[in-house]
Amino acid sequence: KYEKIWLTFGIGSLVVFLLILGYGAFWKGTHPQSHGVTIDPNNIQAYEDFKPENLGLTKVDDNQYVVNLIASAFNYDFGKDDDGAPVKHIRIPAGSNVLFQVTTPDVVHGFNVAGTNVNMMVEPGYISQLETVLKKPGIYTIVCNEYCGVGHHMMYATLEVY
Ligand code: CUA
Repeated sequence: KYEKIWLTFGIGSLVVFLLILGYGAFWKGTHPQSHGVTIDPNNIQAYEDFKPENLGLTKVDDNQYVVNLIASAFNYDFGKDDDGAPVKHIRIPAGSNVLFQVTTPDVVHGFNVAGTNVNMMVEPGYISQLETVLKKPGIYTIVCNEYCGVGHHMMYATLEVY
């Protein structure tokens, strides 16, 4: 009789554990997103979203934004500003819907907007996509959380929600 109770408890715990694992994998971005979208890592610019003029923040509709960028050793390329300087700071109005699209020509990188649910693995040959609503105003640090070489710690940018 007691064995039966323990067996039920054991299986129950296992199910709970798997559910938590599944939740972590699918909702917290511990796995690469959108593996269905493939891209030639040697010719990223053949893809419209990653042409130099389409990098960075684009407003596509009311309250609807897209951020395209290329991660590479050891830089996040958000395109250039009007003065020709590399963009390292992105500003998005609070409460708007944002789609992040990231790819890389070289090795595995991370794209993590610290303190938010935006946390992706970026792999050559794939476009990592994540759509979210950033509600809380503030300045967030964008970091690479996959070790990618000697300049790993230099992959850095900021995102401002205002
Ligand atoms: Cu890129 Cu670490």
